[in-house]
Amino acid sequence: MLGLKLPTDPRWVNIVEKNIEEILTDHAYCEQKAASTAISLIIGFPEKSELVKEMTALAREEMGHFNMVHDKIINRGWVLGRERKDEYVVELMKFFPKGGSRETHLVHKLLYAALIEARSCERFRLLSEEIDDEELSEFYRNLMVSEANHYTMFLKFARKYGNKEEVDQKWNDLLDYEAQLMKDLGKKETMHG
Ligand SMILES: [Fe+2]
Ligand SMILES: [Fe+2]
Repeated sequence: MLGLKLPTDPRWVNIVEKNIEEILTDHAYCEQKAASTAISLIIGFPEKSELVKEMTALAREEMGHFNMVHDKIINRGWVLGRERKDEYVVELMKFFPKGGSRETHLVHKLLYAALIEARSCERFRLLSEEIDDEELSEFYRNLMVSEANHYTMFLKFARKYGNKEEVDQKWNDLLDYEAQLMKDLGKKETMHG
């Protein structure tokens, strides 16, 4: 359904379960960064009115998610820690060559965003199915649906603003690259680690 070419090793949940504070902290920043990405698309491409409208709604929704994760942290007696480095995203964003036209740059940003949403959605699904903590299981089930919608929306925009055939080829190549990255991941208590 998400197009991903390599599923996360389900044992990742066993690692996560041992450190809920860590996963919630990392997750909170994933939501904050999703909101930042939406805002940066508004700043970078203000003439794309449909994109601006949807990114405005998305920034709000992602900050709503951030708030929900933050509440979970507070309710468990913790305080939000510092941002964790997301090696997965750093490596992922090396895929498309730098430079090119503005339109190309937009398509690449949209495809990266679509993939990060898709992988996050897959991780949320895994958590909702495998985690023993019932409160978090339900929490991740609800979030999974939101992220699946975001994945579809970003892919739709990439196809709208780029040449459809080219975009589909790039998407496929990016999925292959991501599957290679994923081979070494699923071993840390972070959302994409
Ligand atoms: Fe989100
Ligand atoms: Fe999202």
